[in-house]
Amino acid sequence: MTSAQAREGAVALVTGASRGIGLAVARALAKCGHRLVMTAREPDALEAAVAALRAEGAQAVGCPGGVADSGRARAAVDLATSEFGRLDVLVNNAATNAPYGALMDVDLTRWRAAFTVNVESALHLTQLAWRAWMREHGGAVVNICSEGASHVGPNVGAYGTSKAALLHLTAQLAGELAPLVRVNSVSPGLIRTEMARFVWEGAEEQLAASLPLARIGEPEDVARAVTWLASDAAEWVTGTDVLVDGGTSVRAAAGGTAPYAVHERLRAAAPREP
Ligand SMILES: NC(=O)c1ccc[n+]([C@@H]2O[C@H](COP(=O)([O-])OP(=O)(O)OC[C@H]3O[C@@H](n4cnc5c(N)ncnc54)[C@H](OP(=O)(O)O)[C@@H]3O)[C@@H](O)[C@H]2O)c1
Repeated sequence: MTSAQAREGAVALVTGASRGIGLAVARALAKCGHRLVMTAREPDALEAAVAALRAEGAQAVGCPGGVADSGRARAAVDLATSEFGRLDVLVNNAATNAPYGALMDVDLTRWRAAFTVNVESALHLTQLAWRAWMREHGGAVVNICSEGASHVGPNVGAYGTSKAALLHLTAQLAGELAPLVRVNSVSPGLIRTEMARFVWEGAEEQLAASLPLARIGEPEDVARAVTWLASDAAEWVTGTDVLVDGGTSVRAAAGGTAPYAVHERLRAAAPREP
């Protein structure tokens, strides 16, 4: 099988789906034939995203709530089975890039909160999906990591460490849940979304010049990798990470002499706190 087409009647749960990469993933999965449960914390934005996908012909429902709220995580999985009767695909996409700054100054309460959202919630939702559907019927889990999981950068130590933990969690779960459930991750480089706006806004030319593939990423670049991993086209793929980074990791061999502009921006700018 080579296409990313969904199995007949398949259902996908996408966290953090009201905008950015999560919304692009939800839209792409719907185009492949999945029915959708979408989550995010802000209910109006989530409802607008659900309505937009429905207007495009998708069967989608929203379940407002944060992934760190165990009751809301359970509600999202319950909604998949009560509304659609199954849960084939889980995309753990929601994350936070706070706290920002040097690790010696990091507030440990905020560090723990980041790990709860970025790591623990992915485990919890996988447990819930496994118990609700996947341990009997199989499925696929895709975790959205980051290229920052594999190398260090200024001011993003908490985020990068949590994403490295998510990368390890992906591999561990892949081993534990095989052969019924495949677990993989996608690691985006710099993507044009709200979360990364503080990096790319006003600096696109400089950023593009420092990347081998000469542009920053779009949410759809990530979504295409996710739909492949979620589908039977990747039926012999588990425990792996797909880097979607415009060649960031190979830039040293690409002949570029410009300094890595993403790190320059991370040094100079700071994100809006969520
Ligand atoms: N953009 C990049 O350059 C980049 C690079 C590498 C990796 N990533 C990863 O890609 C994923 C998506 O990021 P993005 O750039 O698309 O971010 P984004 O544009 O800020 O969108 C984040 C989405 O997640 C939701 N969300 C945030 N916190 C949540 C929580 N605790 N519980 C449930 N939903 C939550 C947001 O809605 P609410 O605020 O209403 O909850 C929104 O729908 C993240 O895992 C991120 O780490 C992004």
